[in-house]
Amino acid sequence: MFGFFKKIKNKITEINSDLGIDERNQELFAVSALFDTPDDIIKAAKTLSSSGFKKYDIHTPYPVHGMDDPMKLKPSKLGFFTFFFGSLGTLTAIAMIFYMAGFDYKNIIGGKPFFSLPPSIPVTFELTILLAGAFTVFLVLILFNKLPLNNNPLLDTEYMKRVSSDKFGAIVEADDELFNKDEIIRLFKSLGSSEVNLIYKFKHNELTTERPIFDFKFITLLFLLALITAAVTYFSLNKLIYLPPFNWMSEQFKVKPQTQSTFFEDGYSMRNPIEGSIPRNELPYEYRGLPDSLVKYMSNPLPVSKEVFEKGKTMYDIYCSPCHGYYGKGDSRLNGQFPNPPSLHTDRARLMKDAAIYHIITTGQNIMPAYDKQIPQLNRWAIVHYIRALQRSQNANDGDMNK
Ligand code: HEC
Repeated sequence: MFGFFKKIKNKITEINSDLGIDERNQELFAVSALFDTPDDIIKAAKTLSSSGFKKYDIHTPYPVHGMDDPMKLKPSKLGFFTFFFGSLGTLTAIAMIFYMAGFDYKNIIGGKPFFSLPPSIPVTFELTILLAGAFTVFLVLILFNKLPLNNNPLLDTEYMKRVSSDKFGAIVEADDELFNKDEIIRLFKSLGSSEVNLIYKFKHNELTTERPIFDFKFITLLFLLALITAAVTYFSLNKLIYLPPFNWMSEQFKVKPQTQSTFFEDGYSMRNPIEGSIPRNELPYEYRGLPDSLVKYMSNPLPVSKEVFEKGKTMYDIYCSPCHGYYGKGDSRLNGQFPNPPSLHTDRARLMKDAAIYHIITTGQNIMPAYDKQIPQLNRWAIVHYIRALQRSQNANDGDMNK
């Protein structure tokens, strides 16, 4: 495994030296110095800036706090750019929504104005953040870090390896006005540098373009890579998973709803259940469509217990209380939007058999809708128990007091 990587590395070195990429010429780029501690490097930065050097730089393996002052760094201008692009995002979003919602595609939503600020805030906020964030990153890379650039003479030096691992480094570039090689070497030594080196420019800085990253061949390679990646992704997501044996259940014989079928004579793929089928866990209701006088032989199958009572209350509160009120007094919350139902405390309702109430819940009564689809059988019986308790609570007699 490692042998393989070593072979590749050797090959790259071979190609590079053939092209002369690694070779450096005699033109000095900078003097570099390594220091051992953060204190040393802060002292070095202080000395360099107060000696009047302009083209110097400090490299540390991690951000060293308090470096701005000794280097006399001004506050970054990046914030202004971020603010500018953030505002651009805000304005773009508002203008976009204003035009789309107000003119291009007017949509009446609950009688609200076509354009208004509150519903536009999320999109505006997001576009603000998006433009501010994305452009800040690009600006940092392009304007401040001067990327893409892969031939900075500092790259591929022992100096860079050390300052990105465990040393603190300072360089003074050769095109600084005050540059004097021997003096700077002496200065670094007097500051306690453990190692001072000369860094020369790459030969290919003049040989090829200044930014080899824009080299035609390189761009072509990138483009080809993108093309291949896209093709492989397309193939694996759209073709490969539908090939046996990966197609698993996605490709099987089936009929989809609302489609035609050549199998059945009438051409419909959707079939009615065979006559006489009954749903699972649910017996067909045998008194459907009959008057409630006929249902008196049914009795409540549930015992009177705390659980049943609780279930009944929950179900009643959900399904019945919107119309009948929490206590069955007919004081509907839907007041005025639906005819108020009668009280459940009338003599008529109190003298009803359990079965009759069950019948009304199951099949409805006049304008009251049926609830058999929403409420399972036993829960309907639980409601009946709860209604009985409600009725008793409103019409208690002396006998109830003793229980
Ligand atoms: C959408 C409103 C609405 C809901 C919800 C509703 N009801 Fe009714 N209910 C009515 C109306 C209106 C009547 C009167 C029907 C009529 O004119 O016969 C009624 C009548 C009744 C009656 C007969 C009363 C009588 O004196 O004839 C009972 C019992 C009853 N409801 C129980 C329930 C139960 C139990 C629930 C919950 C599962 C429920 N209702 C849910 C509107 C509703």
